[in-house]
Amino acid sequence: MSLPKDNKDSIAEPVKGLEGIVAADTKLSSVNGEKGILRYCGYNIDDLAFDTTFEETICLLYDTELPNKERLDEMTKRIGEARVLPKEVIKVITELSGKTSPMSTLRTVVSSLGHFEKNVPLNELPPKALRLVGQISTAVAIIHRLREGLPLIEADPSRGHAEDFLRMLHGKEPTPIQVQALNLYLILLADHGFNASTFSARVTAGTLANMHSAITSAVGTLSGPLHGGANEKAMEMIIEVGNVDNASSFIENALNTKQKIMGFGHRVYKVDDARKPHLKGMAKKLWEERGDMELFNISEEIEKQVKARKEIITNVDFYSAPLLYGLDIPTDLFTPLFAMSRVAGWTAHVLEQYKNNRLIRPRARYVGTIDRTFRPIEQR
Ligand code: ACO
Repeated sequence: MSLPKDNKDSIAEPVKGLEGIVAADTKLSSVNGEKGILRYCGYNIDDLAFDTTFEETICLLYDTELPNKERLDEMTKRIGEARVLPKEVIKVITELSGKTSPMSTLRTVVSSLGHFEKNVPLNELPPKALRLVGQISTAVAIIHRLREGLPLIEADPSRGHAEDFLRMLHGKEPTPIQVQALNLYLILLADHGFNASTFSARVTAGTLANMHSAITSAVGTLSGPLHGGANEKAMEMIIEVGNVDNASSFIENALNTKQKIMGFGHRVYKVDDARKPHLKGMAKKLWEERGDMELFNISEEIEKQVKARKEIITNVDFYSAPLLYGLDIPTDLFTPLFAMSRVAGWTAHVLEQYKNNRLIRPRARYVGTIDRTFRPIEQR
């Protein structure tokens, strides 16, 4: 490609997709893609996945320390109290109900919630961030119940986040295994280094735009099928395959026609995603409780058939799909559920960005023509 020589922007070779570029320091999470290890603030997620709650993960990301009982109780109470939406925002959801996707509605909800927050100094920002963590879960439940014509269920701040969400969504008490499954999901997806949506939140925060603007950017970025939208597509594929015996021909055909198999491949992992074994194990447990292993068995067979044909890793989205479906969550709520977890990481990253801010502003290589002769509109 011949490039204009007098333009500095045209000289540097771009790194497509910013692959491998280190854009900032963070104390929040680290991903070792070679070994398949994910750590939050130095703790291996294998140690956090079970016997803890999503609230503990939030404390860890906000404080960079695991909480003691007193701190955890205080945060659990504050998140619980935050699971309330201003009535004006419920009106917005009502207005959009049935007209747009849940993920688009959620983006608008996050933006609308910003109208009800004051500008506060940096040291008062964590409570504002925490409110958003609570509010997003209630918004997802309300989006679903309104479009189904179901009565809204008020939040119960005395309950854990995962349990209360399932109760607000389905209008009945979840089983202990269901609560454990959602807790596990929320913990495992809470943060993941400089993934695309976190990066977009930090880019927005880097301009010193407010928290709600940054999280609105993140929700929009998460919605794409190459990022958070993949879990929904993975479930659609599992349903379409429909039978263990169909998996082989389905995958053969998809790969022959150069289709991307959703839930596989990753920019950073060279071995299976650190979160996969936990999500797979928990999805299995959920379907065992339901006494119906068909969809889980199809998922396992798809994974086997993909691996038999292509050296490709299984990412977080693949087994998230049967896990969420096993919780009776409709597929178009999968990505909003991802947002409900990742908002913990997004907000923690925004706080980290504000604390040590520098505008994030890379450059593009200009590859068009230069020194073109301008002609007024009448002559074009
Ligand atoms: N199915 C089939 N082939 C794949 C897949 C897939 N899911 N993923 C990558 N490949 C192949 C590509 O076709 C390419 O092959 P080629 O070199 O023969 O052309 C090679 O592997 C490299 O793939 P890229 O797309 O260039 O890798 P990149 O790092 O840019 O993309 C991504 C990573 C977007 C995740 C990709 O693997 C993908 O599209 N996966 C499916 C969507 C998905 O599951 N996204 C969720 C990711 S995890 C998350 O965001 C939470």
